[in-house]
This record gives sequence, C-alpha cells and structure tokens, in this order.
Amino acid sequence: MTGLLRRVDGLAYGGDYNPEQWDRNVWDEDVRLMQAAGVNLVSVGIFSWSVLEPAPGRYEFRWLDEVMDLLASAGIAVDLANGTASPPPWFSYRYPETLPMLQDGTRLSVGSRQAYCPSSPIFREAAVTLTGEVAERYKDHPALAMWHVSNEIGCHNARCYCDVSAAAFRSWLEAKYGDIDALNEAWGTAFWSQRYGSWAEIGTPRVAPAAINPTQQLDFSRFSSDACLDVYRAERDALRSITPDVPITTNFMVMQFQQQLDYTTWASEVDFLANDHYLDAADPEAHIELAFAADHCRSLNDHRPWLLMEHSTSAVNWQQRNVAKAPGATIRNSLSHIARGADGALFFQWRASRAGAEKFHSAMLPHAGADSARHREVVELGAILRRIGEVAGTEVRAKVALVFDWEAWWAVELDSHPSVDVTYLDRMHATYRALWRLGITTDVVAPSADLSPYRLVIVPTLYLVTEDNAHRLQQYVAGGGTAVVTYFSGIVNEHDHIYLGGYPGALRPWLGVEVEEFFPLRSGATVTLDDGATADVWTEHTEVTTADVISRFADGPAAGRPAVTLNRHGDGSVWYVATRLDEAANSQLMRRIAHESGVESVITAEAATAGLEAVRRAGDLGAYLFLINHGNEPVGVAAEGFDLVSRRTVSGLVEIAPGEVAVIREADN
Ligand code: GLA
Repeated sequence: MTGLLRRVDGLAYGGDYNPEQWDRNVWDEDVRLMQAAGVNLVSVGIFSWSVLEPAPGRYEFRWLDEVMDLLASAGIAVDLANGTASPPPWFSYRYPETLPMLQDGTRLSVGSRQAYCPSSPIFREAAVTLTGEVAERYKDHPALAMWHVSNEIGCHNARCYCDVSAAAFRSWLEAKYGDIDALNEAWGTAFWSQRYGSWAEIGTPRVAPAAINPTQQLDFSRFSSDACLDVYRAERDALRSITPDVPITTNFMVMQFQQQLDYTTWASEVDFLANDHYLDAADPEAHIELAFAADHCRSLNDHRPWLLMEHSTSAVNWQQRNVAKAPGATIRNSLSHIARGADGALFFQWRASRAGAEKFHSAMLPHAGADSARHREVVELGAILRRIGEVAGTEVRAKVALVFDWEAWWAVELDSHPSVDVTYLDRMHATYRALWRLGITTDVVAPSADLSPYRLVIVPTLYLVTEDNAHRLQQYVAGGGTAVVTYFSGIVNEHDHIYLGGYPGALRPWLGVEVEEFFPLRSGATVTLDDGATADVWTEHTEVTTADVISRFADGPAAGRPAVTLNRHGDGSVWYVATRLDEAANSQLMRRIAHESGVESVITAEAATAGLEAVRRAGDLGAYLFLINHGNEPVGVAAEGFDLVSRRTVSGLVEIAPGEVAVIREADN
C-alpha cells in the first residue's frame, strides 16, 4: 500500500487469521496455502485477549511469537491487533460494572463478544495495559506492518445506558453546554415539565413512559460516538508512544447496517481509513450499495486510498437468509472496492471456523478445503490483484457529491415524526443508484465539506442542518453550482429545533419554495404527477416563490401543488423534490439534471444500465479504467490501452463478458 503501509508492495490481500482456533500442525498448511493464494497481509490477534492474558497479569505470548515468526519467514506481513476487542470472562466477572447495559436496564452477560461499556475507566485501563504489553513484545518484529486497534469499535456496544455511562454523559454535556440553563434551552425542557435543576438529574435516555426528549437522544448519540472514539484514542496513543512510526488504524463499519458512529469525526484520527463491508443478502442490487459505501470511505479518507479490512468471500452467518455469492462475485466485489480507491482487499476470515458462533460464515479457505470452487476463486483473485498492483496509490476524482451526515441520519429517524416511512438512506441510495446507472462516479461528503470541486451536489433528506452548513450550500449554488434537495430537508437546527416561518426552513430562501404543511401518505398509498410519474410516502403543500414548477401533483392531498421545482439562484440552480418519486421517475430526473449540469459519465448510461460498473483511478503515471460486468449480457465499451487482468492490448470497442472484469491501463496517459 504505497505510502500507507510498510512491508506490502502493490495491493494488500488477505484476511483475519485466527490460528488460536486451530492445532499447531494446521498453521503450516495455512501459510503454504496463503503463499499459493498470493496473500501478503493478515490480521492477527483480534479476539485473542483470553489466550494472551489467560489470568489477570499473566501473559502467554509464545504461541503468537511463533505465528509472527512463521508469517515473517513466509513473507506475509501482519496487521497486528492489540487484542482488546473482547475482554475475557475473568475480566467481566472481576469487574461486572464494565458489562454494557441496554436501554431497558438489562445488564449484558459474558459469553459473546465486545461485552464492555465504552465509558468504563476500568475497561480502558485494562485495554491500555494489554496494548502496551503487545506493543512492547512485537514493536521490532519483522512481520509487523501496521496496528489494528480493537475491532469494529461500537459494533455491539456503542450505546451503553449504565450508570458509568450516565456520569460520562453528564461530563460530556457539561463540557458542551457549560451551564444547565444552556442545556435546558437546547433540549427544550420547558416542554412536558422536563426542566433540570442540576447536572446530577440527567441520565442516559433509558426507557421512559412516553417519547423521550429528542435532543437528549440526539446528544446521547453524539456522546456515544465520542465515547467509542475515546476508546480508540486511548489504545492508539498507547501504541503510538511505543511505535511512533508504525501506521495505526481501526476497522470502520461504513455500510448500511451501521448508524451509530459518526465517522466524519473519526476519519482524521486514523493513519488511514480501513473499512469492513458486508452485503445485504436481501438486496438484489447489493453491488450498488457496496459502491456507495466504498465511495463514502474514499471521501471520508480525504479522497486518498484506503483499505478494505473485511468483506466476505460468500455468505455471512448473521442475516436471516445467508445467500451465497454467485461464481465470480468475490472477484467483482473486491474489484469494485479497489476501483473506488481501496488499496487492498481483505476478508473475514482466512480459514472457516469449526466451532463457535461464526462457523457458517464463509472464508478464504472453506470447510471443504483448498480443493473447492470458493478457494480456487480466492487464488484467482490473488493472482488478479498481483497483476493490477500498479494501481496502488492512484486516486478517484468525482464531479458529483452526495451530502451525507450521520447527525441528520440520527435526527431524522427519531420517533414522533410525520411518517415512519421517511428514512435516511432511502433517498440517499435511490439517488446513488440513479447515478450508478448513468455511469457517473460520485463522492459522499459531509455538509461541511468543500463543495467547490463539484458540478452537482445532491442533498437527500438533510432534516438536520446547521445555519453554517445551510449557508455553505447556498454559497455553492450562488457561486454557480447545481444542487438537488429532497423533501424533509432543512427542517431543524443542531438542537432539533424547527426553523420557523415555513419549510424547508434553513434552505427555503434560496430554494424558491415555501411549504406550510406536510401531507404524508398512508402506507402503500401512491399519488400521480402531471408528467405521469408516480410517487409515495410524502406529499406537501408547496408554493413557489421564485422557483419554476417542473411537475405538479395530479391527485392526492397535495393535488395541484408543485412536486418538483427548479430555482435559479445567483449563478447556479437548485432543484427541489417534494415527494418520493418512483425509481424510473427519479432516474429520469437525475439523468436530466446530470446532463444539464454538464457532468460526464465514465461509460454510457446504456452500458451502466446493462450492469457494467466503470470507475477510473488515476495517478502521476497514468490512468486505469476499471470495468466490472455485474449483468447477464456482454457489454461493449470504447477503450484504448492494456488490460492488466487479461494481459492483452485492447483497442476500439472492448467487450466485457457477463461476470468478467478488466482493468485497463489507458493508452493516452
Ligand atoms: C465483523 C467482525 C468480524 C466478523 C464479521 C462477520 O466484520 O469484525 O469479526 O464477526 O463481522 O461478518
């Protein structure tokens, strides 16, 4: 990983390696098969605390010494975990107050993983002590390439409602608000007799008789993300003090299943971003959500290369129906991440477990052994990654950005809102899908990001927006940009207080519309627009002030009112979409807007709609066109250069067979 990772040339390839689950004689076979598969990086020791420290203060490092030596002699680099992801049972029994607590007051038990309260000083001290022991032991080991702090911090325990968390929450609130009156004001506690007389009266938002104060919930989300980040920082700092030159990261969960951590505040804390990504088996177009997550990772990492720390070779074990991947999908999925800026593809895990909760999770080496279709695909992928290794370090540049904000996600999905059908990722993913099918590469940026590189900025469901960020968006449009805003955006400020005077509050003056009242629809109800489109979930009584009406509701509670509008503002333009357009209408609208704003696509919409994914990575030495055919038909693309995958020169119309991939070093660069 050029510039980011020592000891790995080109792209990183490998996975979590858990040798402590296996007899010693299996390790030699592991290493031999890893070498044959082209594995050059494995993550070791993630869940090893109970074997590294089997009793308080008694450390057992000999087995890990041997693993590290074995890997070093095989030329396989190690992403070494500090081992703190799951405290051992003895720890939890000794310090039961470190076990996390649910919102209803249930204390969680020993026997699973990650059973600790993120705010617990006792846990933190123990984790830092173990970290120090591991770092001292392996600081000069030739296999050590990087540190892997904990594991998916907050995956199961991000929100802990115990008394220790409550005390930490109070300190966090005191630091934020300074005095209790400011908190009362921000939380709107004049409502329902919630006024607090002192900090001591405030707790975590545990289960209560009716709806819980929304600002308390929102601040608790912010606090919980920060508490998890503090866990990371404490362990990272312990590593850094011992090995200042070894890169440190932790595996993020930038994906559809993870809402609880605001990674915009985490990204600058890691030496480079590492992500875990799993497909939703119920989503027939999961490769598009994958692309969204990968674009999000790249954008969070300041557009620089990042590392795919985990994904799966086939099925996971933790969904309702764990659908296996089709032949070739492992290669396509890995290549999609790499196309979108990953400088490596790692898996959970190297060898499928024989026992334990994840024994039905796929792996690089399945239960069937090396003589299996799945492992052969793993070997093939390793060979492909070696052939395309020169793309490491190159970057992806996009001209379109989707604005994504975890705080808006938390806030819009709070209870007691106009409709439970308004969810954050819905319009985000719908818009992204439309752009994907147009062959357009998209960044996913925070509302505070510099928007000047973009020709088109899309703002889905930005329910919560600060005045500053609303101003930023307005300046972007006034300066000549094109923006698209969807319904239920600009409604509240950072305290979840409504912007008064008509919706969409903070964005209203430059959207050129005014909304007096929302008219959400009943479950399953649809409306028709005067251009023939259908829509559901949401309508509203929109009036235009300065905007032009593009289409109107033809029926439903907002019949005759504008549904889609376009306003010229300064040197730019802004679209407003006041309803949940059906997929075809949304795609058609995005096609028009992309065209009018002069956004170029990497391939034609026809090729993309047929299932071809195309992304360009470029660096000082040249550009690389990634082509991945997810469809069932061959797709032709005009390209000139050398395909690093098939090792052949290509020219004119290049045909990508169904399921196949190509990475073309382009001729004119
Ligand atoms: C997460 C964890 C891994 C494993 C996988 C299974 O990503 O980090 O330890 O549990 O999920 O999908």
